[in-house]
Amino acid sequence: MSGAITVRVPAKVNVQLAVGAARPDGFHDLANVFLAVGLHDTVTATPADALRITAEGHDVDRIPLDRTNLAARAAELLAARHGIAPDVHLHITKDIPVAGGMAGGSADAAGALMACDTLWSTGSSREELLDICAELGSDVPFSLVGGAALGRGRGELLTPLAVGGTFHWVFAVAPGGLSTPAVYGEFDRLTADTHVPEPEASPELLAALRDGDATALAATLANGLQPAALSLRPELTATLKAGTDAGALAALVSGSGPTTAYLVEDAQAAEKVAQALLASGTCRAVRVADSPARGATVL
Ligand code: C5P
Repeated sequence: MSGAITVRVPAKVNVQLAVGAARPDGFHDLANVFLAVGLHDTVTATPADALRITAEGHDVDRIPLDRTNLAARAAELLAARHGIAPDVHLHITKDIPVAGGMAGGSADAAGALMACDTLWSTGSSREELLDICAELGSDVPFSLVGGAALGRGRGELLTPLAVGGTFHWVFAVAPGGLSTPAVYGEFDRLTADTHVPEPEASPELLAALRDGDATALAATLANGLQPAALSLRPELTATLKAGTDAGALAALVSGSGPTTAYLVEDAQAAEKVAQALLASGTCRAVRVADSPARGATVL
């Protein structure tokens, strides 16, 4: 047990997020088409006397540095399974927007898990790692595997998907974050008097991904949490419009928000849309990234 292990983990955007009715356990069954995008956090694990977390980068003042951080829980769960003490220093370098609907917290958890498994030589199988990921949170398994995948159940039951090309994205970072439970709660409130159908993946969307066809993907992007996110943050409507006015093929809220995502034709269109979004004054920052991206990777 020595040295330092660094793992790089991608953000995600949900190109389809079909949300079913609330289950008895409070979670919602999903047809969740995850796509990993090339914005990354890194997690470095080094031996220490006790579990400790430090962080640097964007908005780190908004992430907990105690044991409530999902990365700390990842180390504790792995250690508990192997009957060892979770004595590790985890240093997180944040580039994924915090509480933005891009699975930044989940990415850090998946990164910490892989870093500790390597540092401690606990030699977990892929299945064991995925099992711990699912215990940590609905989006954590996808952060581990990356690429593109369909998530069923509460999002943790993954089927890998083929992606036939590179998709180009712009992301508009909104001020503040949105709480995922609050957005699901608003979804429940908005759908209380309606029949919520069983969530199903769109065959057209899966074909667009497989073909690498951005125009077809733009026509099928769908986020069932978007009405709830916009209900809580109505000002995001203007951000979405600024992106489509600037030529984005399509715009949607990323996951539970408040980051918004813009699918564009190519790198040149990405620059144009990014500049227009910044100039519109309707967001705090913009990021440009391609997809798909690799899952958690030891550097
Ligand atoms: O699984 P995770 O801890 O990330 O979920 C955070 C919260 O988001 C849950 O407590 C629940 O309120 C909501 N959620 C949900 N249905 C899902 C995933 C998350 O209602 N499929």
